[in-house]
Amino acid sequence: MTDEITALQHFDDASLDAAFTTLADEVRTTAAATASTDPEAFRLHWLGRKQGRLKLISEAWLKSAPPEAKKALGIRFNQLKQQIEATLEAPASAPAKSAVQGIDITLPGTLRTPGIPHPLLKTMHEIVSVFHHLGYSTNLGPQVESDFYNFEALNFPENHPARDTQDTLVIAAQQSRPSRDRLLMRTHTSPVQIRTMIASAPPIRIVIPGKVHRNDAADATHSPIFHQIEGLCVDTNITFSDLKGTLDHAMKALFGSDVKTRFFPSFFPFTEPSADVQISCIFCGGKGCRKCKHSGWIELLGCGMVDPAVFAAVTAERRKLDPADDAHNPEKITGFAFGMGVERIAMIQHGISDIGYFYSGDMRFLEQFA
Ligand code: PHE
Repeated sequence: MTDEITALQHFDDASLDAAFTTLADEVRTTAAATASTDPEAFRLHWLGRKQGRLKLISEAWLKSAPPEAKKALGIRFNQLKQQIEATLEAPASAPAKSAVQGIDITLPGTLRTPGIPHPLLKTMHEIVSVFHHLGYSTNLGPQVESDFYNFEALNFPENHPARDTQDTLVIAAQQSRPSRDRLLMRTHTSPVQIRTMIASAPPIRIVIPGKVHRNDAADATHSPIFHQIEGLCVDTNITFSDLKGTLDHAMKALFGSDVKTRFFPSFFPFTEPSADVQISCIFCGGKGCRKCKHSGWIELLGCGMVDPAVFAAVTAERRKLDPADDAHNPEKITGFAFGMGVERIAMIQHGISDIGYFYSGDMRFLEQFA
């Protein structure tokens, strides 16, 4: 900024105009530099009562001016003052404003937290990917399912007590429908086994992740809505050894190569023989602790060889389209199936004590998986 005051030599109109043009330019330059960032400094610089530049210049120039030039000088000083005041009143017109005002570079920036997969989805993807590496593909099915796919074709006859093991939520007002068509919320992912086999001939290797529903009261380990991953392998010469080898590999891939598996006789209407699979306790290494109820083993999933009755139900359906169909003839092919709860596996993986955390939406819980 120009601080010194140059004395005026000539007081004719042209000289005055030239001198005031220079001053008007000076106002614009200082306005660009300070009017928007620090309007008060700009005001003091030009209009300050004691040291303001306008006052000092007008005093200096008026003193040396001949009396006949004073009026012309006064008019021009007024115009200059108006220019300064207008700049102060309409700072928006100052070019620097939009670029500078409103940004306080000393404030911390907006923290953007990138999204992460929900811990349940993460575990689901992990399990599915173990089987993708074994050549399985993924299949999905509906959550609102018919009695036929959820129970009947899976060898749960109507009114059979085995249905009581899966406390079912049914869709209301369907009494007029034939029982096989009545709708319910699927209680497991197994109906997708039936859908897949009706749609395709062996060889079949699929995993079926998805949501399932049961009329269960919520507690630390139960939720009326939860997730399962089903597996189905159907081909020639599939044996129980293939089932054991596959699941042993999957458990080692998920929980570490030290983990051991063991198979206990169990019952499911759609597999024969059936088994429950246990893994050696990952918390105590099998010595026995509170988590494994001092047994050294943790029960993790159900499995078995596909029951010939299931192949028969599938064949009956396929023969509605092709009476000669024999693709799922249990004399020629065999298969195994397994099903596991995603919540249960994720809880063991991460040492989570209450299933409710998964559905709470509590960021303090979810952020731990970021
Ligand atoms: N569908 C069974 C359940 O939900 C689990 C299972 C799947 C068992 C496949 C055997 C074979 O309890």
